[in-house]
Amino acid sequence: MLPLVKTSIPSREILMPLLEEVLYSGYVAQGDTVDEFERKFENYIGGGYTLSLNSGTAALHIALILAGVKEGDEVITTALTAEPTNVAIKMVGAKVRWADVDYETGNISAESVEKAINPRTKAIIVVDYAGIPVDVKRVQEISEKYNIPVIEDAAHALGAKYKGKKTGNHFPFTVYSFQAIKHLTTIDGGALQILDKDLYEKGKIIRWFGLDKKLTRMDNNIQIQGYKYHMNNVNATIGIAQLAQIENLVHRYIDNGKFFDEHLKGVKAVELINYYPDTEPSYWLYTLKVDNRARFIQMMAENGVMASELHKRNDLHDYLNDFPAELPNLDLFYRKMVHIPCGWWVTDTDREKIVALIKKGW
Ligand SMILES: Cc1ncc(COP(=O)(O)O)c(C=O)c1O
Repeated sequence: MLPLVKTSIPSREILMPLLEEVLYSGYVAQGDTVDEFERKFENYIGGGYTLSLNSGTAALHIALILAGVKEGDEVITTALTAEPTNVAIKMVGAKVRWADVDYETGNISAESVEKAINPRTKAIIVVDYAGIPVDVKRVQEISEKYNIPVIEDAAHALGAKYKGKKTGNHFPFTVYSFQAIKHLTTIDGGALQILDKDLYEKGKIIRWFGLDKKLTRMDNNIQIQGYKYHMNNVNATIGIAQLAQIENLVHRYIDNGKFFDEHLKGVKAVELINYYPDTEPSYWLYTLKVDNRARFIQMMAENGVMASELHKRNDLHDYLNDFPAELPNLDLFYRKMVHIPCGWWVTDTDREKIVALIKKGW
């Protein structure tokens, strides 16, 4: 079965000597290798400061703290995402306020965000779902108009662009996950890309118990709540090896995604995503809307291709559903939405077969 997601690891020849070196170096904790990974990741993103972490969820948590979200506050977010996006809101004791999605993309609707804003709103989380960039321009306008910080959850969207610049450059906080099946994996890991230098320095303290690593333990005097969220030299070594090939890897997702965009256009019972102006997806998954989804998934499986809706809409989790809301566009989108494989493991032959299957009907 052609899987929907797959882990990419550099070859043995490249990775094993590097791992052997770090494992027996006598220093596997957070050290120079982590710094090297961060500087290389900054270089890849092309702006901001990289706070490397041990998960994307840790990145969401620190972003919410740095955005000033506290117990009892509200965060506006989308229900179409993986659970960690919204579980993190509860980690700071805040409440989850849903905005609807745009039917054309499945991403959070700027119009709906604006309607949901109230005096308790302290942050907005937007998700580049499945690698499709959000409506950056409109979300930025709303953020400025109401002076509310935006956290971009780009866990699915490494290398996606707006106006030619990668995710990580458009909002004060951008979250990445380096978990097993993402574009770039460090086995587990994550990063928070921060535009403001002072907030970045504060983030470093939060990620390590509230301690300042620049001072000795004895000279430290903890002032804020911190956590054990840092990356270590072993994961960073894998990250550095991944970064050396990341442009090529992401390019393959994009090439497959563009192929589907072109060849599935106008196909009966299929609706394609209508991307926002000036955005370029990085197609972590390829998302489309189909009639009779259950039969579509079955037909693809019978032909050796995995297709799935993958995520449960988060408002169906009682714990996350603080303010039950009507989400009519999400209702329509979610009924038809399905993902098909689009990553580096999808060969030219695979993608042609997928297009032929869909054109044949189900
Ligand atoms: C949209 C989204 N946000 C956040 C996360 C959390 O990342 P992690 O698993 O690295 O904590 C994930 C992945 O699991 C995700 O898919």
